Amino acid sequence: MLGEVDLQAADVAAEAAASASATALATAWARDWGLGLPVTTAIVVMTRAGTSVRCLLFRSIYYTWAAFRARSIVATMKVRDMRKLVQLRPVSLNATERRLSSCFDIADLRRVAKRRIPRPVFDYVDGAADEEIAVKANEAAFRAWRFQPRALAGVGTLDTTTQVLGSALPVPLLLGPAGYTRMMHPDGEIGAARAALRHGVPYILSTMAATGIEELRGAVGGASPGSLWFQLYVTRDREQAHDLVKRAADNGYGTLVVTVDTVVAGNRVRDLRNGLTIPPSLTLGTVVQVGAKPGYWWRLLSGPALDYANFAGGPRTTIRQTAEFFDPDVTWADIEDVRSRWAGKLLIKGPLGPADARRAVELGVDGLLLSNHGGRQLDRAVAPADLIAPVREAVGPSLTLLVDSGIRHGADVAVALALGADAAVLGRAYLYGLMAGGTAGVDRALDLLTSQFRSTMQLLGVTSVAELRKRGRELITRAAS
Ligand code: FNR
Repeated sequence: MLGEVDLQAADVAAEAAASASATALATAWARDWGLGLPVTTAIVVMTRAGTSVRCLLFRSIYYTWAAFRARSIVATMKVRDMRKLVQLRPVSLNATERRLSSCFDIADLRRVAKRRIPRPVFDYVDGAADEEIAVKANEAAFRAWRFQPRALAGVGTLDTTTQVLGSALPVPLLLGPAGYTRMMHPDGEIGAARAALRHGVPYILSTMAATGIEELRGAVGGASPGSLWFQLYVTRDREQAHDLVKRAADNGYGTLVVTVDTVVAGNRVRDLRNGLTIPPSLTLGTVVQVGAKPGYWWRLLSGPALDYANFAGGPRTTIRQTAEFFDPDVTWADIEDVRSRWAGKLLIKGPLGPADARRAVELGVDGLLLSNHGGRQLDRAVAPADLIAPVREAVGPSLTLLVDSGIRHGADVAVALALGADAAVLGRAYLYGLMAGGTAGVDRALDLLTSQFRSTMQLLGVTSVAELRKRGRELITRAAS
């Protein structure tokens, strides 16, 4: 009886024999029909080559054929006749503009980012903790809701404005904190903040940013305290954390967001596999990538050095080593301590359930940002979308409730508000834009989400954010599973 290995070997031999005889047959036909050397070569390549070469050859033949056909059609038509049939679209000479104008949703921006950015950097943004269950579940949790629109509501006049912590926003969106944003594009934190300000929405600078508290303030001098927020990690070195709080206050950041889900570093498997370091190290792998994505490396290497700007002079470190910043012994006493040091608005960011939410309110916080860090910390942590309704019920109607993790479409923002949130915070949605086209890419992400949110409201039959929040539960229903 033949064993498994013998059977496989027999299959391989049979396939090779079949392929060789197909080539021989095709070559003989080509010769018999007088098709000459080029066609014979093409047939040989087709029957022998790998799939990608075959595709390339097919495409070249198809395009050559199409070009000949087009030439003969054009030759038989007058240019005047053609102009009636086709509208000439102006083509932008600016490559970034051209690239971004072909992106029609956040998924398009993600695709462009993936094409343009070296794999370890793209993975740093796109990846999450462990098996990446939470990141997928976050998006699914927003998509699990269906709209039940109101018909004929007269939605020609639309009011998308809202209030967050006393500031009026034209749309219920904020740009969330992200570490090392300048690694994604040299425009980095400053570019993202400028795009946010242009759209009238707040920008939250991360403790782990590649642009310092003072540097960002200098770059966006006119920004009001309501539009510039700072995100704090209560670091192992408490003096360092207190210093960050003081610097944020001195530089006119109006709101402090304390992230509480990072008492230890998340286990980001993609980063570990890629051996990601901050700043990127020059290894053999990096050199290969320089060749593959020269534009990215040129932009990175011609800009200022990349580091944790809020801890200037820090050593080169791997993502794993950032663990040393974090303190597993952070407790509610630290929140009390921060509250006593910070006179501005204070928010807590994490996957807070109703009990933790009530406790935070007792300690005098001004709001909560429901978040599981985009699935980058505790994999399988509950999706923040599913926390909105129970937490809103626990804290009452007036506490500021924001949500992030999984916002990829204006419809997600509408669902968040209908469930009881005041506004949605963007993470990857704007970072994909940044990677795809710098500041203009963040603008594009904000434009797309705003326009999706507006049309969702109109098609839903609501004319204001206030109405969406008030009647939210009548307007959405869980999808049948
Ligand atoms: C983050 N996030 C984050 N949060 C925070 O409090 N401090 C930080 O320094 C960072 N850094 C960071 C870097 C990158 C690359 C990402 C993608 C995210 C989490 C962020 O603020 C937000 O909670 C999530 O991004 C929301 O999930 P989605 O919408 O991006 O899936």
